[in-house]
Amino acid sequence: MDDIRKLIVGNWKMHGLKSALDEVDRLAELCSRGEPKADILICPPATLLSEMAGPCRDAGFFVGGQTCHHRLKGAYTGEISAEMLKDAGATHVILGHSERRLYNGETNEQVKAKAEAALSVGLIPIICIGETRTERDSGQAVAVVSQFLAGSIPDEIDDFIISYEPLWAIGTGLVPTPGEIAEIHMAIRQRVGGDIPILYGGSVKPDNAGRILSIANVNGALVGGASLKADDFYGIIKSA
Ligand code: G3P
Repeated sequence: MDDIRKLIVGNWKMHGLKSALDEVDRLAELCSRGEPKADILICPPATLLSEMAGPCRDAGFFVGGQTCHHRLKGAYTGEISAEMLKDAGATHVILGHSERRLYNGETNEQVKAKAEAALSVGLIPIICIGETRTERDSGQAVAVVSQFLAGSIPDEIDDFIISYEPLWAIGTGLVPTPGEIAEIHMAIRQRVGGDIPILYGGSVKPDNAGRILSIANVNGALVGGASLKADDFYGIIKSA
């Protein structure tokens, strides 16, 4: 529903050294000038999570992870569990981002298992889904998104977030038309019900955020490149 409070998420991907903490301070300063009308969540690289959790909490921002393992502990060198993210201060975790599906071969089944792990420790999963350009051009966008939904969401859960991110819009400057976004978000809404936030992601910038965030059933944004600089990110937050 459109009365769901908007959520603006910054997915920093593999960007950010300790010096990037200055951006959090800058964002806190910008947001302190007026009460933001949206919730703000920053998902930094795991190396920065603990250090960012305190300043973010003080500023009223949430912090989250960018993925997690489907087991809570074990001999899985290099992996991070949902419990570890939670312990570091995370409240959310992005799961099934198309870059994880593409470069790490994540399947719907794995995303579902990771979501179950996240929920078991009280993290809110943000499950990402979206079609390729070829799928859209062949009229398959709604069908593809529906398949992702059917395969990636654990049964009988009601505390999760969906992010619709068409692959062809990520980092390209291309954005679907408002009608295309509305069509997909409506299809997702019909599948997940009225209370689940549905975010849009893919080339969200300060100059298009207002238009995107005013579309029916768009309850927030998942922002990549434009979340790295506080001033850009604040430009998006202000549009909510
Ligand atoms: O998760 C956010 C994302 O993939 C979109 O990235 O850089 O197009 O905003 P960007």
